[in-house]
Amino acid sequence: MSYPLDPSPDQMRKMGDQAVAYLVEFLRSVGEVPANNMEGAVEVALSVRGSPPDVGDMDFDAAIDLVALAASRGSNNAGPGFLAFVPGGGLFTAAIADFLARGLDRFINLWEPSPVFVQIEYNVVRWICDLFGYPPESRGVLTSGGSMANFSAIVAARKALLPEDFLSGTLYVSEQVHASVTKAALLAGFPRRNVRGVACDPKLRMDAGALRDAIRTDREGGMLPFCVVASVGTTNTGAVDPMADLAAVCEEEGLWLHADAAYGGFFYLTDRGRALFRGIERADSITVDPHKGMFLPYGTGALVVRDGPRLRDAHAMRADYLQDLSPEGELPNFSEYSAELSRDIRGLGVWLPLKLHGVGAFREALDEKLDLARTMYEALRDTPGFDVPWEPELSIVPFRYLAATGDADGFNRRLLERINASKRVFMSSTLLDGEFWIRPCILNHRTHRDRIDEAIDIIRKAAADLDA
Ligand SMILES: Cc1ncc(COP(=O)(O)O)c(C=O)c1O
Repeated sequence: MSYPLDPSPDQMRKMGDQAVAYLVEFLRSVGEVPANNMEGAVEVALSVRGSPPDVGDMDFDAAIDLVALAASRGSNNAGPGFLAFVPGGGLFTAAIADFLARGLDRFINLWEPSPVFVQIEYNVVRWICDLFGYPPESRGVLTSGGSMANFSAIVAARKALLPEDFLSGTLYVSEQVHASVTKAALLAGFPRRNVRGVACDPKLRMDAGALRDAIRTDREGGMLPFCVVASVGTTNTGAVDPMADLAAVCEEEGLWLHADAAYGGFFYLTDRGRALFRGIERADSITVDPHKGMFLPYGTGALVVRDGPRLRDAHAMRADYLQDLSPEGELPNFSEYSAELSRDIRGLGVWLPLKLHGVGAFREALDEKLDLARTMYEALRDTPGFDVPWEPELSIVPFRYLAATGDADGFNRRLLERINASKRVFMSSTLLDGEFWIRPCILNHRTHRDRIDEAIDIIRKAAADLDA
């Protein structure tokens, strides 16, 4: 069959039906297929290596087979057993929204070509601003993820607080900060040495006293402290920096406080999260990732800035060839708040799930994740041999097994392999103070009590077998 660049209505309908049918079946069985499958993965990957034909040589049935083959290897991020890195899940309603947005192909980053889509996306931005108690002049953008949001935040802070020659500017992060923040500082032009790693307390939260000392030392040394990046849910353990204390330091010292809440942010919807993050509303800017805490497919992060014009000052750029388009008024020109010009419509994929499911559905799912983390923590803590020192503040439960003999790191590496060999769950690890820790992260709306109970059994059995 040949496919013109614009397929016929029948062809389009057939492709759409096939794609939906495939996806519905994939999601129906997403909990039954392996949580991770690397068997022959590289061979399978190499089997699809190739350059494109001059004349189309695949029909859509084969295209679906290709997608199914690709989905059969690697980690099953959408499945309930995916507990590695930071899961998201991938809401079907967001996927449908993205499909529609892609088909319509409207330009979103300036308001005039698509005022209504811009308003829809702006609803999402305002909702996030309102969630954190930001004032009306706050502004924000939807980004591709937390990394880009952190980048724009640091650029905005730099522009707002430092001279054009900014190389004396120093920023402060905890020792547990996500690498994207350090990367953002480097991309924003700072030498690595200007990124100060502030010591943490035993709960792995930034020590506000140590922060104060570091700022004082830098000022005495002629540096220009300008920004503190707090982690609101570290990627390693889910620790939440003391936001009220850090806000007080930043207010006294005149520093920009950025909250990297990429992983933890949406827990603010829950009562427990709200209590834990107290003070976040005093931050100058906040990163949150809908593709984590709102279970969206990868590709949607967000940055909100309390004093919106400061974000604009750092990113707005005039261009003669855009002179036909109106300046912002009622509606924002998002490109003036971010590094991007052309990009996909991101707002619809957040707004439709919010409208279809309601905020309460997200609150409930996030509350469930907090409960599941506690369940896992208590079960492992109460099992002899396991070291589970950090009571989870959010939904990450780092643990290791202290075998009676031998090298603990080696043992735990083998333990992780054995757990993942179950293919019912898939976890990843990290290093804390140089030691190897397994760190299940529970943040998929499809992960429920049954899978966590199963995970606990798998972990206990794997440790007992290995230790035998
Ligand atoms: C705390 C934190 N910040 C930033 C990021 C980077 O986000 P992204 O992967 O969306 O760029 C992550 C990702 O896991 C994270 O956990």
